[in-house]
Amino acid sequence: LSAPLIDPFQRKINYLRVSVTDRCDFRCAYCMSEDMSFLPKSEVLSLEELERLCETFIHLGVKKLRLTGGEPLVRRNIMHLFRGLSQHLKSGELEELTLTTNGSQLSRFADELADLGVRRINVSLDTLDAHKFAAITRWGKFDKVMMGLDAAKKAGLKVKINTVALKGVNDDEVDKLISWCGDEGFDLTFIEVMPMGDIGEVERVDQYLPLSQLRASIEQKWTLNESLHNSGGPARYVDVIETGQRIGFITPLTHNFCESCNRVRLTCTGMLYMCLGQEDAADLRIPLRESDDNAVLEAAIREAITRKPKGHDFIIDREHNQPAVGRHMSVTGG
Ligand code: GTP
Ligand code: 5AD
Ligand code: SF4
Repeated sequence: LSAPLIDPFQRKINYLRVSVTDRCDFRCAYCMSEDMSFLPKSEVLSLEELERLCETFIHLGVKKLRLTGGEPLVRRNIMHLFRGLSQHLKSGELEELTLTTNGSQLSRFADELADLGVRRINVSLDTLDAHKFAAITRWGKFDKVMMGLDAAKKAGLKVKINTVALKGVNDDEVDKLISWCGDEGFDLTFIEVMPMGDIGEVERVDQYLPLSQLRASIEQKWTLNESLHNSGGPARYVDVIETGQRIGFITPLTHNFCESCNRVRLTCTGMLYMCLGQEDAADLRIPLRESDDNAVLEAAIREAITRKPKGHDFIIDREHNQPAVGRHMSVTGG
């Protein structure tokens, strides 16, 4: 087997996030602009090309693969890619194959995902109020997501809900979300909003809610115990004694977790971003199309990893009312 991918800060890179499409059936305000223009299809790698890239990363020691978007399940024939990648779960080279989804297509796909060996999925949901949901996602259908979650449960998938904490939008629903996740048997992760893409900067500053504050208010009502659980992602977890479920906190702004970063991100055009919060990317489409020899691709990936930066520079306050990176979150899927 090849030597593992180690970056300049001695971090082992064994987690690849792959954004399989920049498209989405929702338009969450913190993720996309309302008049978002999408990539022409000709720019987007084929599913076969994405599979070859993923396989090369697996050969280089990647153990965890997460498909993201946009919304991964709106990409045509996406199950074809899941089917191909699931072979590496069976062979044991890959430990986890999963996705982050908005849930809208889960009614169609949950059973097959479970059959292919997907064990747990992350579903983005910021509110349990159908009206608020329509305001946040602009084009989203709340009932479809609820049906999708039901299908996921029935299929035996473990669900983690991702909730972006937004002051004045969903901070009044935190207790309701915790109880509901307890009833449904879902874990719940809160995320600090990150300054990416040219969306309303005033709104972003006004809606930013540090999770230390949120946690203090949760502790007034719920008993939280530090948990040793580690999902391989950036969240720090607590157990909620009353519900028996976990809550995770993802705090890019108030508690930087970059020192334990284990991941890189591939976009649907073949750009490899070494950090979510930096602009630098390596264009893997060139070596991918230049040669059928995987050694060329592997060398390009190894070179890119030598450029992985120490961390991001996210700041949200009134003096820094510019996004840290110009691209929207939907390009890399978080
Ligand atoms: P688990 O496997 O369940 O731990 O998932 P995950 O946290 O790795 O993935 P998910 O797609 O659920 O990501 C949740 C949020 O964490 C998203 O908003 C991501 O943007 C954010 N996130 C994940 N990795 C990083 C990172 O390296 N840096 C920053 N700043 N945010 C990250
Ligand atoms: N800041 C933090 N999280 C975000 N997400 C999308 N945009 C942002 C942002 N600007 C979240 C989604 C999803 C995850 C992949 O990223 O809600 O749960
Ligand atoms: Fe779509 Fe997810 Fe972005 Fe919302 S956050 S617009 S659901 S990709």
